[in-house]
Amino acid sequence: MSRIAYVNGKFVPQRHAYVAMEDRGYQFADGMYEVAAFIGGALLDAERHLDRMEYSLAELGIPMPASRASIRLLIAELIAQNSRRSGLVYIQVTRGVAPRNHAPNAALRPVLSLSVLPVSIASDAARAKGAKAVTAPDMRWKRCDIKSIALLPNVMARGVSVSAGVRETIMVNAQGEVTEGSATNIFFVRPDGAIQTHPKDTHILGGITREVVIELAHAAGIAVVERPYAAADIPKAAEVFFTSTSAFVMPLTHIDDIRIGDGKPGPVTQRLIALYHAHVAKETA
Ligand code: PDD
Repeated sequence: MSRIAYVNGKFVPQRHAYVAMEDRGYQFADGMYEVAAFIGGALLDAERHLDRMEYSLAELGIPMPASRASIRLLIAELIAQNSRRSGLVYIQVTRGVAPRNHAPNAALRPVLSLSVLPVSIASDAARAKGAKAVTAPDMRWKRCDIKSIALLPNVMARGVSVSAGVRETIMVNAQGEVTEGSATNIFFVRPDGAIQTHPKDTHILGGITREVVIELAHAAGIAVVERPYAAADIPKAAEVFFTSTSAFVMPLTHIDDIRIGDGKPGPVTQRLIALYHAHVAKETA
């Protein structure tokens, strides 16, 4: 069965899903997006994703394109019309279509588009093996908390790990601190067993998986420190993992030329993987 997308108020085959040339998303990257997982047809952490969507739109001064309830119904319909039972939904809202002019016109009608991405959620086998990453400078702007479609620095950062043949690029700011991955949040397990990650502020995207993992860790009695981690301390980390909608909790076994721990997924990461799986099962039951 072919992929079906939602654009310009209609469900259409993906190959016929086009937006206008003067869509401000195309000309100014004037818009935001969300990516949420669906499992067995059910959207994971839907309310949290919609909260973040409303937050990004409010910060950009773009109105919600439809009510939350309508957006949920459209997503349910999109999932029903596509053949996959599990995968990722891509949601994008741009400020609208207008002749090119920097001024953001408040009267524009926002453009909502939805699609199902032809990629799978990382497998248990991939998580059991773990992944490798490299570091690169964080070249982004001062509002990384907005899930903006302006992703050029993230794309360039990801290019560094593509060239290195590894899974992710860990971004390091001018102060030598790890901010986050090109499309993931990074956690360090310290020798004292606490997990440390960059605080949720304007320097990172507040990942939904990050937020859930922090809540699960608190509930399990694992100490969580939300403070920037120095890239120079990567060799001291007992374990490192990243979180994202498409990978869940992914152990990192090597960063640059450094082997993390014994080069295998460690016990704290494995415990969080199991807790996250239980969360997914409960949420999508
Ligand atoms: N990326 N940080 C950045 C810069 C991201 O782009 C993402 C998500 C995350 C993790 O957030 P979450 O746990 O909500 O997926 C952190 C999405 C999946 C993407 O761009 O495809």
